[in-house]
Amino acid sequence: MVPQRDSFTSKFGVIAAAAGSAIGLGNIWRFPYVAGENGGGAFLFVYIGFIILIGIPVMLSELSIGRAAQQNPFGAFKKLAPKTYWQVIGFMGVIAAFVILSFYATVAGWTLHYLYSSVLDSFAGQSPQQLEQTFTDFKAGTFMPVLWQVVFMVLTAFIVMAGIKDGIEKYTKVLMPILLVLILVLIVRSLTLPGAMKGLEFLFAPDFSKITGEVILEALGQAFFSLSIGMGTLITYGSYIRKDNNLVNTAVSVSMSDTLIAILAGVAIFPAVFAFNIEPSSGPGLVFITLPNIFEQMPGGYFFSLMFFLLLSVAALTSSISVLEVVVAYFSEELKMTRKKATLLASGAITLTGLLSTMSWGALSEVTLTLGSAAETDVGGGSTTLTIFDIFDFISANILLPLGGLFIVLFVGWKWKKEHFAKEISNENTFKTPYIGLMMFILKFLAPLAIAIVFLRGVGLF
Ligand code: TRP
Repeated sequence: MVPQRDSFTSKFGVIAAAAGSAIGLGNIWRFPYVAGENGGGAFLFVYIGFIILIGIPVMLSELSIGRAAQQNPFGAFKKLAPKTYWQVIGFMGVIAAFVILSFYATVAGWTLHYLYSSVLDSFAGQSPQQLEQTFTDFKAGTFMPVLWQVVFMVLTAFIVMAGIKDGIEKYTKVLMPILLVLILVLIVRSLTLPGAMKGLEFLFAPDFSKITGEVILEALGQAFFSLSIGMGTLITYGSYIRKDNNLVNTAVSVSMSDTLIAILAGVAIFPAVFAFNIEPSSGPGLVFITLPNIFEQMPGGYFFSLMFFLLLSVAALTSSISVLEVVVAYFSEELKMTRKKATLLASGAITLTGLLSTMSWGALSEVTLTLGSAAETDVGGGSTTLTIFDIFDFISANILLPLGGLFIVLFVGWKWKKEHFAKEISNENTFKTPYIGLMMFILKFLAPLAIAIVFLRGVGLF
């Protein structure tokens, strides 16, 4: 017989772990910068629409598949649809996990470095221009960013090796609520800066003329990235959820908390962005340039800066472990490795790939890919030049995750069928699920069509 699978022990533990996966750099680092590059309010509007219409159904599908199959993503499709091509979804997930963690660790490394700089109080007395320069110089170096990236990967591997109950659940339960409190404190300071209103306007007043195919694709990609869906993370976590957990409630609570944190992060960041004259479209450095300015301007800034970067590092860790877990579960269950060997191999390989992404801000910054017509370059806006980091980020969030999500909803809608899905989300019919008809309609038609159209338009094929 198969040995008893490791599992989460309490309802709060499940939500904390899933929310721990969802809430991370995606909310606090990626959401503000992507929103800043894509028009602010209009982006937020589309983003929230996607969370409700596509995000929650995909999340619920993943949790159901995982709990029904009690397997890693690859094994799950093998079990639920034996001898079919649906297994490819599991394989795509492993690849997506690899790409995501490669660049995620770069940014998590920056976070650790900012934690270290906070300890040393090295931002003290710097002007907004100096703080921007500090970040630019730091990320272009090789030694420090690589060092912190490796430290982060070691920490991730360490927790994953410890397994579910003793590792993941224990850490997330305590630390996530504290992060929320800290963001609220930041918001108070940010909103009381001179000129704060401009930031709120940017974030909340939608200018619909800014919505383009690209903006819509970015919003979809961000929704997938932030909710941790589209690559099997939540299939894996679903397999650790006990049979009496209400998956619909879990999916809704997790999605709502995740969205709330992203919006709150926006409310903390954008007023300061405008108050300090930072470009909202500064790109991936946005929070690292903005936050130290806020800390400089507040009483107890030393303490808050320290706490904030500490908790952001933890939030990054509770997300990165969920990404690594997908690869480790695949290696250990499908390729029959011990958990230890699987973890070492996966994290080692991902760390090496991640070096490319970390160094693409400095030593490898010349290695780029130019999309669009070169002729338009001097007019501006005609083409985009992507570094290795950008490519990893774009391929995973905007291509692999939406495609994975598309296949997952198609699977539940057309292959797995209503009876199985209904049985899983009603905990073997122990309670009623009156919304199942609507849910099936979304999974069969609405979500797949929406994803397909957004995807094809966004990549310029439609
Ligand atoms: N959602 C996490 C964040 O916001 C990152 C993450 C964890 C993720 N697991 C994932 C992204 C799976 C995509 C897929 O930081």
